[in-house]
Amino acid sequence: MTKKHVGVLISGRGSNLQALIQACKAPDYPAKIVLVVSNVPSAQGLLRAEASLIPALVIDHKDFASREAFDDALDAALNEASVELLCNAGFMRLHSDAFVTRWHDRHLNIHPSLLPAFKGLHAHARVLAEGVKITGTSVHFVRPEMDSGPIVAQAAVPVLPDDTPDSLAARVLMAEHRLYPHALNLVASSAVRVEGERVVGMTQVGDPAPYFWPPLDEAL
Ligand code: GRF
Repeated sequence: MTKKHVGVLISGRGSNLQALIQACKAPDYPAKIVLVVSNVPSAQGLLRAEASLIPALVIDHKDFASREAFDDALDAALNEASVELLCNAGFMRLHSDAFVTRWHDRHLNIHPSLLPAFKGLHAHARVLAEGVKITGTSVHFVRPEMDSGPIVAQAAVPVLPDDTPDSLAARVLMAEHRLYPHALNLVASSAVRVEGERVVGMTQVGDPAPYFWPPLDEAL
């Protein structure tokens, strides 16, 4: 099968990158990671790429005079590696509008909340402060406004009475690690497409869609 060439952008730990690396190992998975780029030289995710023999680059935003100049260098590296689909996985920088336009409908992000609720930083602390009982994670196409854009897939995660931002983040992360490979599968296999700023098409390819964490048949 022809696999879509994927680039992954990271800034840190890279556990979602690891989940995508793992998924890409399946012979029938429709994507292959051809490049990992970090804007932070010390990002742990770079070691994960290296361990899996995936080409990895640091493009340090501090070396550039403007957001546009950084994004131009990023774009050049992605094109050089023949990247067709881009996945932000804990990439902690906003892109310029020009970059977002260039990668329109070829660019995914994962966010740790049920969008459009709780966009931006510190989502889990804000979920707890609001007394929300169900949160989750979303994979969406990137648009200029932060954490906006057509939603590809979501998974719901319960908030428990004794949760702290850290315990909730850890539970949501388990859902993220299942959701991102699922969402990339949907997009890379062209099972879904964007129509009128909504994602339409099949929601089921490969394993059962991970709509809930923990799975509904497993009590917490
Ligand atoms: C994840 O919670 C992701 O949703 C958010 O940043 C975190 C990245 O974690 N955007 P990791 O680097 O993938 O471990």
